[in-house]
Amino acid sequence: MAYAAFADILKQVMGLDAVSIGSAAIEHAVQARMSAGKLTDMPVYLALVRTSPSELQALIEAVVVPETWFFRDREAFSALARMAVEQWLPSHADGVMRLLSLPCASGEEPYSMAMALLGAGFPASRLQIDAVDISARGLTHARRAVYGRNAFRGEHLDFRERYFAASAHGHHLNDAVRQPVLFQRANLLAPDFLPGEERYDMIFCRNLLIYFDRATQDTAVRVLQRLLKASGVLFVGPSETGLLLNHDFVSAKVPLAFAFRKIDAAARAIRLPAPAHPAIRSPTRLLPALAKATPPKRRPGLSQVLAAPRPDAPPVTPEAGMAEASALADQGRLVEAAQSCEEQMRRQGPSPQGFYLLGLIRDVGGDLPEAAQHYRKALYLDPNHLASLSHLAFLLEKQGDAKGAQVLRDRVLRAAPK
Ligand SMILES: C[S@@+](CC[C@H](N)C(=O)[O-])C[C@H]1O[C@@H](n2cnc3c(N)ncnc32)[C@H](O)[C@@H]1O
Repeated sequence: MAYAAFADILKQVMGLDAVSIGSAAIEHAVQARMSAGKLTDMPVYLALVRTSPSELQALIEAVVVPETWFFRDREAFSALARMAVEQWLPSHADGVMRLLSLPCASGEEPYSMAMALLGAGFPASRLQIDAVDISARGLTHARRAVYGRNAFRGEHLDFRERYFAASAHGHHLNDAVRQPVLFQRANLLAPDFLPGEERYDMIFCRNLLIYFDRATQDTAVRVLQRLLKASGVLFVGPSETGLLLNHDFVSAKVPLAFAFRKIDAAARAIRLPAPAHPAIRSPTRLLPALAKATPPKRRPGLSQVLAAPRPDAPPVTPEAGMAEASALADQGRLVEAAQSCEEQMRRQGPSPQGFYLLGLIRDVGGDLPEAAQHYRKALYLDPNHLASLSHLAFLLEKQGDAKGAQVLRDRVLRAAPK
């Protein structure tokens, strides 16, 4: 009876098309969750899923297909390393190459990207891999980075000797490979998924689109299009290639890599204006130390460039708007400061400084998870936003994540003006 209702919810929330995994898999997941909660009444469980975000997440964990392994479709990783070393490095004298692994499942894919690049001599200090998945369980495994036999398939396993240490619990990945990879839980179909435009040089989105119906696939590809730089490369799974050709992508012509480039790269490049808008000042009294760290200049994202202010909006410059929010925060009027900040971003489009300020307000108010989320959004828009990097590092330290904090501190050192 009500299984169809569960399938509808899963489709709406995470895009899962029941046909792709079979309705028995959804029935099985529902049954497993009901018995975990000692429930026998399906309408009661349905009501729980509708009202409890944590139960919805538990159901999602029960239906996702986490199948993955190191260097799956190996040629994609070889192509990535070649493009990075032969094309990206020579055309970027400095700066960081930003990559996205979405979905990253339990981490084998983003870590394979890191191993391929480091093994090809790509400098670790110029590498950042964002790794995103909807499954918290997958991410916990990924962050622990200890892998069993199933993660190593095929014949070419020399990388295991080079990058892992064996123990009774499995193979532990070394820190050099873990360091450039930053994990985050997010849903590709959520409206606020990775805000910003053209942030990634390379995106791996493999073996996810196959679980979506056609309309959802189209939505997902538009998200990838938004996130990929004009000159970027998108890697998909072997059975997902046809879809891209209907979406202004062309094959990158690397056999068995399933890699695509944007068709309209040149046209898009022309639409993006070059000059950066001036850096926005940090709030001064609230954060005296950080007031000295001027965020580096950045090119505005397409959404900011194209976001027209509402016709009834008074002409507020981003600096003036954030100055007002900063002043309110300085006076301890945190609720009004947050409102002013949000209003400013509604008018002018998302900004790193806006998300940073919201993070700070939540941080001061003691809501650390929310604060971390805002700092991360600031860093998605501007990976070198020094104040957000430092604050997120402190916050992770407070939460006992010394390693995560260290990763961010290293980024501060790399991003700080020499
Ligand atoms: C088969 S794995 C693919 C992993 C890896 N990309 C690979 O090709 O080996 C599919 C992953 O998609 C994730 N997933 C499913 N729906 C998602 C969504 N809407 N947003 C983000 N991740 C999602 C699942 O949690 C699962 O880990």
